[in-house]
Amino acid sequence: MASDDLIDLEPAVADLEAEAVAGLTAARKTLPCKLFYDQRGAELFEAICELPEYYLTRVEASILRTSMDEIVAHIGPQVQLIEPGSGAGTKTRLLLSALEDPVSYVPIDISKEHLRDVAARIRADYPDLEVQAVCADFSQAIPAPPTSRPARRRIVFFPGSTIGNFEADDARAFLGRMADLAGPGGGLLIGFDRAKDPAVLEAAYDDSAGVTAEFNTNALHRLNAEAGADFALEHFEHLARWNPEYQRIEMHLRSLVDQVVHLGAHEITFAAGETIHTECCHKYGPEGVAGLTDRFDVVATWTDPEERFGIQFLEVRAP
Ligand code: AVI
Repeated sequence: MASDDLIDLEPAVADLEAEAVAGLTAARKTLPCKLFYDQRGAELFEAICELPEYYLTRVEASILRTSMDEIVAHIGPQVQLIEPGSGAGTKTRLLLSALEDPVSYVPIDISKEHLRDVAARIRADYPDLEVQAVCADFSQAIPAPPTSRPARRRIVFFPGSTIGNFEADDARAFLGRMADLAGPGGGLLIGFDRAKDPAVLEAAYDDSAGVTAEFNTNALHRLNAEAGADFALEHFEHLARWNPEYQRIEMHLRSLVDQVVHLGAHEITFAAGETIHTECCHKYGPEGVAGLTDRFDVVATWTDPEERFGIQFLEVRAP
């Protein structure tokens, strides 16, 4: 349904308390990583992207800059560019500015406020571009909005190694929905972080300024503010560990003491040393996301000279 300047697919409103109780009463305590991202969490994530240890954002942007001519040659002219979880930041602008005569830009996000802000900023800088903001959740089927001018193909742009934050089954399902969204002849331009020295990875997720620790703890801060929980934040510490079996960084919050936390009507008991698993950040080999999906074929892969990060262009496989 279109509401003022955005297309509202009416994503389900998350029940934070129910999701948190389900995760915290499981045998191994977990919380969903989406809990990081309220206004404060989004600002902390922006600060993370500037940290010396967090190379991902800088290296991905440098690959885009270096390889842009080849990337746009693969994508071709007059496309509808679709960005799930859009930040409308540097990377989006690098691509939009390089594309030949793009027909429309479709930022997709669950937050209407964020979407309106993104859409206004893109409209201001690209006045001739049709901007079709869609309020939706990654977990729902998202039809591509019809464009005013015909588009030759649809291209989904998913930078940042956000795919790494999905468990394998969820990543596969998500990429399937992106193939449906891009449709026949469509493509996917995706960024993925590469597996490397665990010390480098752990530093990227446990920076010396403590910004990532604050980002991680923001999940508890939100449960206190929005779900009536009483987490004593000083009784938890941030942990980021490389898990070689799953080729991923895991972020946890470790209880420093034996304690009981209240969440709604529930009492959650923590032993000293017990952790809440809050995020997975999967890392990939040179094959990138190819092993995660049978809905796309890899057309090209780019990396930086030190092979720290990768960008792939994939095309929707014909049925
Ligand atoms: C959003 N996502 C790709 C980030 C990552 O690197 O997995 C989230 C993040 N977590 C801690 N630092 C950054």
